[in-house]
Amino acid sequence: MKIIEGDITALDTDAIVNAANTALLPGGGVCGAIHSAAGPELAAACRSLAPCPTGEARITPGFELIARHVIHTVGPVWHGGQNGEAALLAACYRNSLVIAAQHSLHSIAFPAISTGIFGYPEDQAAKIAVSTICEWAGETAAMPQIYLCCFSHSTRGHLEHALHQFQEGTC
Ligand code: APR
Repeated sequence: MKIIEGDITALDTDAIVNAANTALLPGGGVCGAIHSAAGPELAAACRSLAPCPTGEARITPGFELIARHVIHTVGPVWHGGQNGEAALLAACYRNSLVIAAQHSLHSIAFPAISTGIFGYPEDQAAKIAVSTICEWAGETAAMPQIYLCCFSHSTRGHLEHALHQFQEGTC
């Protein structure tokens, strides 16, 4: 797993993950950036795959993106943490990795799902991202190269802290 900083739409990976909405419509944030870079064919492909319930994932081609595929997953909206948010966020990472394995993808890049418009606290979301990916790595033989793509330095800090804690066995 590598933590990197930058624009996910610029990455040359087999797949980038979109923090989507249940209707799989072009939105704001990373979703808007991915749809803009992929071109209108992405929205057309998404129409036939919608709806995508929270926690689930769908795959489309990448169209005009450098990345070959987009895995669309819908993170939970943060409602205070007592409404199943953690399990749903973990499901986003796990279901995206399942789809990547089903398609024999060798590399996948995640944004910090739910931490923007959906309001999930970054420190808690980072712990879930890291622990879910590490647990998946322990269960699968064919692990793709995974990038956690941060759009800000503070997101990177949260993820690095979470990874450090996981490696120390303190989370
Ligand atoms: N590359 C990488 N990360 C990005 C980019 C980008 N180009 N643009 C934004 N981000 C980061 C944000 O800084 C945040 O850390 O992605 C993370 C997720 O933020 P959002 O895109 O707001 O996603 P989310 O909180 O899951 O909200 C999803 O927003 O755009 C709509 O359709 C989307 O309704 C859905 C909701």
